[in-house]
Amino acid sequence: MGSARITVIGTGYVGLTTGACLASLGHRVTCVDVDEVKVARLAAGRVDILEPGLEELVSRGLAAGRLSFAVGSRGSVWNAQAVFLCVPTPMGARGAADLRAVEAVVDEIAGTLPPGCVVITKSTVPVGTAQRIRDRLGRSDVPVVANPEFLREGTAVSDFLNPDRIVVGSDDEAAARRVAALYADLAAPTVVTDAASAELVKYAANCFLAMKLSYVNAMAELCERLGADILSVTEGMGYDHRIGRAFLKPGPGWGGSCLPKDTHALVQVAESVGFDFSLLSAAIGENIAQRDRIVAKIAGAVGGSLAGARIGVLGLAFKAGTNDLRDSPALSVTSMLAAHGAEVTAYDPAIGGDLPGMRLVDDPYQVAKGADAIVVLTEWDEFRRLDWSYLADLMHGDAVVDTRNLLDPPAILAVGLCWLGLGRPRVR
Ligand code: UGA
Repeated sequence: MGSARITVIGTGYVGLTTGACLASLGHRVTCVDVDEVKVARLAAGRVDILEPGLEELVSRGLAAGRLSFAVGSRGSVWNAQAVFLCVPTPMGARGAADLRAVEAVVDEIAGTLPPGCVVITKSTVPVGTAQRIRDRLGRSDVPVVANPEFLREGTAVSDFLNPDRIVVGSDDEAAARRVAALYADLAAPTVVTDAASAELVKYAANCFLAMKLSYVNAMAELCERLGADILSVTEGMGYDHRIGRAFLKPGPGWGGSCLPKDTHALVQVAESVGFDFSLLSAAIGENIAQRDRIVAKIAGAVGGSLAGARIGVLGLAFKAGTNDLRDSPALSVTSMLAAHGAEVTAYDPAIGGDLPGMRLVDDPYQVAKGADAIVVLTEWDEFRRLDWSYLADLMHGDAVVDTRNLLDPPAILAVGLCWLGLGRPRVR
């Protein structure tokens, strides 16, 4: 398509990253949102989500005149050659994806899209959505292409600009190829397929990652019971190129705005066609069990009962590098500790304000004051560099529960504390 006129609808981390990156590839992009305040801030170059490189890319796009922001979809699509739908698809009834936002946008733009314009689904949508959008649009001159994103929060810009693959699917192959051409400069392997397969690739990938993590978390539990070390086990597994080394770190469970939602949605989709995806359901169950096991481990570290125990929590975001609390295992473990009667003080470098059931502080050392145990729940690098000797002085107890295996056990031991990791021998 060369330099194309593109409208991106929705300015969450997916939409904004897509818009800013497409502008950096030379396209002329208008990003649209319903939130007037957000649009005004973005038009002034202000990005409120924590996404490395994004604010800079937005500023550059604005300065080059290739990126603009607008309120409302209808007035922004009339001369577009491609329209990306990047609106939220949250978990709806019984775990299925809620498509109301997508449908509302489709209804709004249906009469205004110019002939030949391609509508592209970028948000994760259930198999069959491209077809449903076509039917809803009622425009034989407007093809619909599924083009799922594979952006991780916290590395979305670099994931966009260095993709492992581009996937485009449509029942109109020429339209799919036109969308693939928008990414021509990225030189990534491209899968051109039908719409349903493209839609399923996204679920298949995210659910596979979730199952991999549930497997690793279960393996960590097994390591503890058998006296083995998960670090050696995953190292030994990871060298097998069929398994790969990524996504093999145990933790308090997988969370965020994608994996939990997509696993439930795929179980639901499978059920709707009469298939019991018990393998995936078990991975979801394992993820819940992991949180229970972490809470039990913390209880064990403070003598068996959490009632009245003072717990200092380091990390609340669902993973390091984001300020996202959506479906955060760290947050749910923290809430469970409070529900069991613990007095929780928490610190996260990216999160401020008030959260129910805990005292949130803006200094990591404050969580240690009088604490019976410190629990690391998010893998922020700065926790490694804390003055653990000072933390030990501030504590009442001596337990450090490191659910990310982030810290250096001998260093923790050296300051007189007891280190408990996940799937690793206890160091005391
Ligand atoms: C995930 C996928 O990785 C992206 O490819 C996808 O595009 C995105 O969802 C999406 O659907 O939009 P994200 O939700 O940003 O990305 O988070 P991940 O980096 O995948 O992490 C998911 C969870 O797994 C986090 O809770 C993280 O802490 C946990 N995790 C990850 C581990 O516990 N161990 C690991 O080794 C890796």
